[in-house]
Amino acid sequence: MDELLIQGGRRLKGAITISGAKNAALPAMAASILIPGKTRLSNIPDVRDVRVMCQVLEQLGCTWDRDGDLLEIDASSISSVEAPYDLVRTMRASVLMLGPLLARFGKARVSMPGGCAIGTRPIDIHLKALNKLGADISLDHGMMELSSNGLSAQEIYLDFPTVTGTENIMMAAMGAPGETTIYNAAREPEIIDLALLLTTAGASISGAGTDTVHIQPGMLKEFVTHRVIPDRIEAGTFAIAAAITGGEIRLKNIVPEHLTAVMAKLGQVGVDVTIEPGEIIVKAGEPLRPVNIQTAVYPGYPTDLQAQFMALMCLAEGESVITENIFENRFMHVPELNRMGADIAVRGRTAVIKGIRKFRGAEVMATDLRASASLVLAALAADNETRLLRVYHLDRGYERLEGKLQGVGAQIERLTGGGP
Ligand code: EPU
Repeated sequence: MDELLIQGGRRLKGAITISGAKNAALPAMAASILIPGKTRLSNIPDVRDVRVMCQVLEQLGCTWDRDGDLLEIDASSISSVEAPYDLVRTMRASVLMLGPLLARFGKARVSMPGGCAIGTRPIDIHLKALNKLGADISLDHGMMELSSNGLSAQEIYLDFPTVTGTENIMMAAMGAPGETTIYNAAREPEIIDLALLLTTAGASISGAGTDTVHIQPGMLKEFVTHRVIPDRIEAGTFAIAAAITGGEIRLKNIVPEHLTAVMAKLGQVGVDVTIEPGEIIVKAGEPLRPVNIQTAVYPGYPTDLQAQFMALMCLAEGESVITENIFENRFMHVPELNRMGADIAVRGRTAVIKGIRKFRGAEVMATDLRASASLVLAALAADNETRLLRVYHLDRGYERLEGKLQGVGAQIERLTGGGP
């Protein structure tokens, strides 16, 4: 397995171009199943989750062709409606297949995802909504079997504004004549992005980005093009990299409004953020002031940047409190940060972080994508070398992470094939 060797203590300076959003690319790829022809997507990041999604599509009988950030998917001759366990277990977002398969073929057979490192992550809200739209659902040998003799438009209220749940319902509604309304829908930018793709394809959608979304399916086109939004979580991670190393980084190809909560928190810490069209410039300030953070659904502070901000707060002068409200088990980075010299105590969903002067490099590993990113950030600020194991977590969602960091002066190198 690959490892990263990071020699900390360098002020990062320069520009980084942000890739397309993993969490917008995955639903866009799932939506291609609805199109009885070709979907040409651009700004698709080259990350492992995208590659797994290509395998899932291939399994269904789709063909695809990748050229740089372009991905063209041909779903004209789908021959299977099954996403097996060996693919779903490596990527939970495979559940996004349920909605489009049901809409186009009236059936889907997708492995039930298990828990994961950040929580139990049930999909009960997805299934309840798909059932209301007209799907019969059963579980057989760990596989969810959905079938329908015809979906019908419904008014659906979500107990929680689940992101992929909202996306699944929007795509299932493509097969339900009439107007489906989702109340308490997720408002993340990735929802607006999917709505744009479906609208381009021929649907009529209003309210995406608010808590009430109305969806009317239309005659879907046979050729659809769509450019996915930039990755706000990747951008936030590099913004924190600038702050934690005392550096200055210009982030290019972003939508600054998607980062409002993150920029507000960086401002409270004493970091200087300048907004320009499609870019922000993040310049570290000293000393770092402690802040409190509550993760929340969009437009609140994103859970996907909680671990990274915690690394920054370790170097603030004083005590910060971070409360994780979205996932019940998203503090797996804490023991590893503590091994690097941090002083963090966790009680339930709350972490109390006491500022330290410096991180000390160590051998560390994490259990999920964003936790790994927080360790990279701590390592960049450490006064000696850190060896990060299980880099495959990072590869799931960060495109060329070490290359981008090297480009702004970080001393980081990948060792291929070593470690447990
Ligand atoms: N939940 C339920 N029942 C459901 C669905 C969700 O109880 O049927 C709970 C979850 O267990 C969790 C909370 O609701 O406690 C929020 O989950 P949500 O469904 O919104 O998350 P998701 O759709 O599974 C997406 C992102 C995650 C991101 C979350 C929250 C994708 C592919 N994944 O997951 O991204 O953390 O929204 O913003 O879009 C990541 O990129 O590292 C990542 C984990």
